[in-house]
Amino acid sequence: MTPEKEIKSMFENVAKLYDFFNDLFSFMLVRLWRRSVTKHFLNQSRSVLDLGIGTGYLSSNVNQDRGVFPVGLDLTRSMVLKNIKKLQRFSDPVIGTATNMPFRDGAFDTIVSSFTLRSFKKVGIDEVFDECARVLNEKGNLVMLDTAKPTNGLALSFFYVYFKIVNFVGGLYNNPAYRWLTNSIINLDPEFVRKKMFEHFNNVKVYKLTGEIAYIWHSRISKF
Ligand SMILES: C[S@@+](CC[C@H](N)C(=O)[O-])C[C@H]1O[C@@H](n2cnc3c(N)ncnc32)[C@H](O)[C@@H]1O
Repeated sequence: MTPEKEIKSMFENVAKLYDFFNDLFSFMLVRLWRRSVTKHFLNQSRSVLDLGIGTGYLSSNVNQDRGVFPVGLDLTRSMVLKNIKKLQRFSDPVIGTATNMPFRDGAFDTIVSSFTLRSFKKVGIDEVFDECARVLNEKGNLVMLDTAKPTNGLALSFFYVYFKIVNFVGGLYNNPAYRWLTNSIINLDPEFVRKKMFEHFNNVKVYKLTGEIAYIWHSRISKF
């Protein structure tokens, strides 16, 4: 199976309870983190792409906080269809892949993306950033939010214990998916993402959220 098919099949299998477990395992912090994206990084954004829109929470925040109707792209039909009636009230979802986006060059002034980098790393992060650079216009505002490996030893020890609980509880629902989830967090080095992003974009800044549990990587200008 190709990495893309693997990711797709995994999200197809967890789509039903994805939001429930996401809120539960993060103590609702995911909601706060998505809000940081829309509150602090979307000034003057008029055309927004939500890359890996999933069930649509980030797009709904973009719509509420900025009055913009984002376009959403996602690989997994079941994720998008889960709340489709609600989702279509605040965004325009499209099925497709981030490595080959079905949009014209310069179509958007902002791309936002939450909890997708771990999947993008698996399918080819360079291809995804190339495509981001292509579909962004000269305003080139790219905002990526994800959980990643903490660099602080204490936070890391806490993560290892906490992941055992997540693997146990999530494993009752879908063992391979929650194992993949926890491994993917430990395998995502925030510095790796910063360097990769800097190969494609200028002026990359990294922000730590809630200690070092989550990060926002932000860039304003594409290099191309
Ligand atoms: C962890 S979910 C995050 C969903 C949503 N952004 C959120 O904040 O809850 C990751 C999403 O990225 C999508 N995804 C993964 N790889 C992708 C790719 N190559 N192209 C488009 N979407 C992708 C998955 O289908 C899934 O819906």
